[in-house]
Amino acid sequence: MLVRLNKFIAESGYCSRRKADELIKNKKVYVNDVCILELGTKIDTENDKVVIDGNILKKPQENIYLMLNKPKGYITTNKEQFSRKATIDLIKEEQRVFPIGRLDKDTEGLLLFTNDGDFANLMMHPSHLIEKTYIVETDSDITKEKIYKLKNGVDIGGYITREAKVRKISKNRLEIVISEGKNRQVRRMCQAVDINVINLKRIKYGNIELGNLKLRRLQIFN
Ligand code: URA
Repeated sequence: MLVRLNKFIAESGYCSRRKADELIKNKKVYVNDVCILELGTKIDTENDKVVIDGNILKKPQENIYLMLNKPKGYITTNKEQFSRKATIDLIKEEQRVFPIGRLDKDTEGLLLFTNDGDFANLMMHPSHLIEKTYIVETDSDITKEKIYKLKNGVDIGGYITREAKVRKISKNRLEIVISEGKNRQVRRMCQAVDINVINLKRIKYGNIELGNLKLRRLQIFN
């Protein structure tokens, strides 16, 4: 079957279509040992060999979409050189999948995995403003003033956060919905208003909800 090279690269899970175009422009993509320069190039998925930076791309069998209830103590990375526990160790997929965004080591909850580069890009690209919902548990006072500040933007070290949806859901729990994803953003937002985070859990990413999925359990979503 003939398909556009950038589509093939994205569907192999290597990266998004947009990134694939950049790789082609940067002369990183080889088809049957010939460097490809044309963005619109089509390839024969049965017979052509596509190589990027020494990696031979496999023809994707099917797209995979998985959600994990990540436990604390696991880092979100594909390759772990220092043999710390990594979320990818909890995924028993034959095909290569990668996480859509990150949760830091001490954060638990909803983490998505796929081999669909375009879908991952859609979910992660900052311009798409996809909402992510977190539950913060704290032993600090949750005052109206702190909620107001969190809603309207706080300084997390040279960056003022965008508007967020914030509500107190019990004496010591807050729900925070952000549409951006700076490193450790929720923890840094809480720190900026003197809210001590005891536990942080993501319960929703876009319109995908963690629901009753148990810790360490995986489920297919689509
Ligand atoms: N914000 C954080 O502080 N940590 C995460 O893992 C995700 C968002």
